[in-house]
Amino acid sequence: MPARRPLMNLRSFRGMIGFRPGLTIVSAISATIGVAAMLSFSVNVSAFSRTAEDDAQIAKSLATMLRAGRTVISKNQDRINDPNVANKGIDGKAVLAEASTIYQQATGTNPASIDPSSLQGRLIRMQMDSIAEVMDVHQETINRQGVGFKGFIPAVFGRLVNEAFGRRAAGVAEIKVTAPSHLIRNPQVQPDEWEMEVIKTLESSSWPKDASYSATAPKNGNLAQRTLIPEYYGRSCLACHGSPKGEIDITGFPKEGANEGDLGGIISIALYR
Ligand code: HEC
Repeated sequence: MPARRPLMNLRSFRGMIGFRPGLTIVSAISATIGVAAMLSFSVNVSAFSRTAEDDAQIAKSLATMLRAGRTVISKNQDRINDPNVANKGIDGKAVLAEASTIYQQATGTNPASIDPSSLQGRLIRMQMDSIAEVMDVHQETINRQGVGFKGFIPAVFGRLVNEAFGRRAAGVAEIKVTAPSHLIRNPQVQPDEWEMEVIKTLESSSWPKDASYSATAPKNGNLAQRTLIPEYYGRSCLACHGSPKGEIDITGFPKEGANEGDLGGIISIALYR
C-alpha cells in the first residue's frame, strides 16, 4: 500500500521536525490472559529469569512515561506556537519535571525512585534521557520568534523520543507508536506483520476498550515480549485526523476522516528476551 503523503508543506514540515530513518518497531503484547500469555509464561520460566508479567509491567511503565511527555507538550502547545515569546523555558529539565509529576500521579511512583539497576529502572532512565535530549535539541525551533506553528506537536515529540530511546536501548527494547495501516502518516512507523494481525484483534468489537495485548513473539528475528496498547481518537485529535477526509491539516497531511473513539494508534513495546 503506498504511503499517504501530505500534499503540501511536506518539505518544510519534515525539515522542521526531521523525519528520519531508523525508528524501529516494536511490539506487543496483550492482555488477554489466554493461550498466548500462558505460552510466554512457560517459555519465560524455563529459560529466563524475567516473567511475562514483569515485562508487561515494564512496558506499561514506559507507555505511561511516553504519554506523560506527550501530555506536557499538549498542555504547552499554545505557548510553543506563540510567535512572540522567545525564551519559552520549555526545555528538557522543565518537561522532565512535569512528565515525572504526571507519571507519579498515574502510577503512585516517582520514576526517579525506580531501582536504577533493575531493567525497568534502566529503561525508564534511558527514556527520560531521551525526553530531555529531544527537548534540548529542539530549543531553537521552539524558541524561534516570528513563527507560530512550528510542527512541534505531541506526535512528533513522541516519535523523536522513541527514536532516541531506540538508540539508547538497542538490542534490549524498542518503543514505537504505530496505527492501523490506513491511518499511517509516517511510513517509518508502519505496523509489521505481527502488529497488523494484533491490530485486527484490537479493532474487533469484542476487544475490551483500553485493554492491551501481550505475547512472546519474534521481532526482527529475535524473541521478544511484545505489548500493544491501544489509543483512541479524542475530540482534540480530530482537528488533524478528522473530517472532512482529505482536507489538508495544519501539518500538511490530509485528514483521515476519523471519528471520536476510533482506534487511532497503538503504542508498541518490545522487550527482547
Ligand atoms: C496538529 C495536528 C495533529 C493533532 C491535533 C493530532 N495529530 Fe496525530 N499526527 C499528526 C502528525 C503530523 C503525525 C505524524 C508525526 C510524525 O511522525 O512526524 C501524527 C501521527 C500520529 C500517530 C502515529 C502514526 C502515524 O500515522 O505516523 C498516531 C497514532 C496519532 N497521530 C494519533 C493521534 C491522536 C490519538 C491524537 C489526539 C490525542 C492526535 N494524533 C492529534 C498530527 C496531529
